[in-house]
Amino acid sequence: MSFQVRLLPSGKEFTAEKNETVLEAALRSGISLNYSCNNGTCGGCGGRIKSGQVRETQQHDFHFSDTQKAQGHVLLCVNAAQSDLEIEVKEAGGIEDIPLQLIPTKVEQMERIQDDIMILHLRTPRSQTLRFLAGQHLSLAIAGMPPRNKSLASCPCNAMHLQFHIRRVPGDQFSDYVFTHLKISETVTLEGPWGNFSLDESSKRPIIFVAYETGFAPIKSIIEHAIALELEQPLHLYWMAHQPGNHYLNNLCRSWFDALDNFSYTALTGDKLSGESSWEASTDPVVGLRDMETAGTAIVADHPDLAGFEVYLTAPESSTEGIVELLQQHGLPKGQLHLDVMKRF
Ligand code: FES
Repeated sequence: MSFQVRLLPSGKEFTAEKNETVLEAALRSGISLNYSCNNGTCGGCGGRIKSGQVRETQQHDFHFSDTQKAQGHVLLCVNAAQSDLEIEVKEAGGIEDIPLQLIPTKVEQMERIQDDIMILHLRTPRSQTLRFLAGQHLSLAIAGMPPRNKSLASCPCNAMHLQFHIRRVPGDQFSDYVFTHLKISETVTLEGPWGNFSLDESSKRPIIFVAYETGFAPIKSIIEHAIALELEQPLHLYWMAHQPGNHYLNNLCRSWFDALDNFSYTALTGDKLSGESSWEASTDPVVGLRDMETAGTAIVADHPDLAGFEVYLTAPESSTEGIVELLQQHGLPKGQLHLDVMKRF
């Protein structure tokens, strides 16, 4: 059985099942509420029931005063809806509301999806799930080697199961270790999140996503968040890979296209004749610049007037100059261009 939950003062609505906590239901729906322990200890997820009934799902340490209880204060991480609800609550508004966290995770799964691409799945403790905004990045620390910054590739709606895309780079200690020594259940300590590359949820403009190679990871996180939020505006993903076959999650992108009326997908490839390897393509400034200019040409052919769009673009910094110039020549305002150019792809 499911119930409709309305948050005040924002008016955001979502559906909550009878057997899940209100916090779980909100996160699943892409709504970022304040919380920390997720087990009734810290008090951080407090909200005030304005109408409707809830049921406590477990015993907990944090307690409101009798006066607060009479006013309807409850912990959303240990209460489930038993009717339609209206709840007064403080929502996490932006990056400034997301605390810096240090979380020991376990390796849950390693998918070697291509020779040089590993999809790494990490699981947080149930009582210490990760709060982040789609598109942000973290540092990953494995015992015995320096931490490495990586973008999250998964949706904040699943705060316990996290995904990262690791490219194997010859001679790179971190990626070598992931590909040859990392084991299931091994500890990877996360610190973060960081970065202001995240979805502007207040904008109703159509969105263009542009990813280069494994720069797809933060774009995937944002698209999955947009899907959880059920955004209605058109979404168009351009994924540039230097060589055919390098779109390592092509089927996922196609499944979004099949399932969503407002989603378009264009897989692009760069200079197929040059013979550079895919790794060279994503690090060589000349090759990257050329590939991204090719992507820009394709985008402005489809959308010659970009004044009314939001564009989210991820690529190495050295590859972005030409495409950014082209997009701006076609009317894209600076404030509607969201760039992620760190070298962690
Ligand atoms: S998140 Fe800590 S009490 Fe709910």
